[in-house]
Amino acid sequence: MRGVIPISENIFWVGVNDHETDLFEAIWPLPRGVSYNSYLVMGEKVAVIDSVKGSFLNHYVEKIRSLVGIGRKVDYIVVNHMEPDHSGAITALRQMFPDVKIIGNKKTAEFLRDFYRLTENVITVEDGGTIDLGGPRLKFVFTPMVHWPETIVTYEETQKVLFSCDAFGGFGALDDRIFDDEVDLAYYQDEFLRYYSNIVGRYSEMVQRAITKLKGLPIAVIAPSHGPIWRKNPSHIVTLYDRWSRHETEEGVTLVYASMYGNTRRMMEAISLSLADEGVEKVRVHDISRTHISFVLVDIWRFRGMIFGSPTYNTTLFPLMQNLVDVLRNDELKNRYIGVFGSYSWSKGAVSALHDFACCGRLTLVEPVVESKCAPTETDIEQCVLLGKNMACAIRK
Ligand SMILES: Cc1cc2nc3c(=O)[nH]c(=O)nc-3n(C[C@H](O)[C@H](O)[C@H](O)COP(=O)(O)O)c2cc1C
Ligand SMILES: [Fe+2]
Ligand SMILES: [Fe+2]
Repeated sequence: MRGVIPISENIFWVGVNDHETDLFEAIWPLPRGVSYNSYLVMGEKVAVIDSVKGSFLNHYVEKIRSLVGIGRKVDYIVVNHMEPDHSGAITALRQMFPDVKIIGNKKTAEFLRDFYRLTENVITVEDGGTIDLGGPRLKFVFTPMVHWPETIVTYEETQKVLFSCDAFGGFGALDDRIFDDEVDLAYYQDEFLRYYSNIVGRYSEMVQRAITKLKGLPIAVIAPSHGPIWRKNPSHIVTLYDRWSRHETEEGVTLVYASMYGNTRRMMEAISLSLADEGVEKVRVHDISRTHISFVLVDIWRFRGMIFGSPTYNTTLFPLMQNLVDVLRNDELKNRYIGVFGSYSWSKGAVSALHDFACCGRLTLVEPVVESKCAPTETDIEQCVLLGKNMACAIRK
């Protein structure tokens, strides 16, 4: 059947491609769509590993039916993760296969009860637990907070396939070319980092723990729950996740600003030019009113330097800049250099708010802090140039 793609003799991709959801988690844009990867492992017993978002049931259920055929059934549903983009079809599967056993850990059982009122035939496994499907053998490894507390990954021991769930995933629909050797990875690269920075980055420490924990497993294929399946070069995505979660950065600067009437923009332009004069090639400028934060985060996550500018708005930061700062605070972003600038006309507020953020302890402030009253003066512009210079110097250290 179309859309049922073998990964090996007895492991199949039965995922779906979502080109309809505009905003993932109701916040992150999906211009290139997203895939919900689900897998079917067939031995004497049949297991489904993760399911899909509830709105894609029909196609999904057809695929599973086409594989198991009439008279056979799915014996297990392994729930790596309860977020509804993966658990949304569990109730439908239970209706199709009333005896199916659902596998997860204690926390999964709690969520199954509280999301779907499912309590029967739920099997809780321990970290490192295994189950024999008569042929394939599944091993469960707990990876809490990548990306929810119940999250586990599942490893098929005979063929060394790691079903890694949200870990090693990325945005971008697959459109039935599901393998890393079939897609243009350059095209997906930013979508991987956008997924990481938007969804997983907050849990970087847990990603590090998971990577360490999985090191001992020989892995031939990584089959995540979003994005391509890594059969040619699984270490590629692990290396990327490892770097990102260690907050490793490239030489470059993300310059994010807001401006209602152009005064703060003039300051930004002076900084931008100064960075160019210093030979910083990778400078990404974002008007926070026009670029969705989802894309701004990609650059912030990638580069060692960031410079934020905001006018004062009703005594504090411009609202969209406030949002960016709040998101980054929550993400516990670290190991980066930050410069701040802005403007006001009477009470001040924006620059001190940015300064507070910059001094959170995980970032290094690059001086000078530049604050102009109404339109920037010659001196303000000179200070902006100096900020650009100092930032160029800082990111090269
Ligand atoms: C809606 C609005 C609210 C403002 N609130 C404040 C304020 O509370 N305190 C202040 O000092 N300036 C305030 N200002 C003035 C701006 O911060 C100041 O004019 C700044 O230079 C504008 O920068 P821009 O030209 O880049 O938009 C406000 C301006 C606007 C339009
Ligand atoms: Fe998730
Ligand atoms: Fe997910």
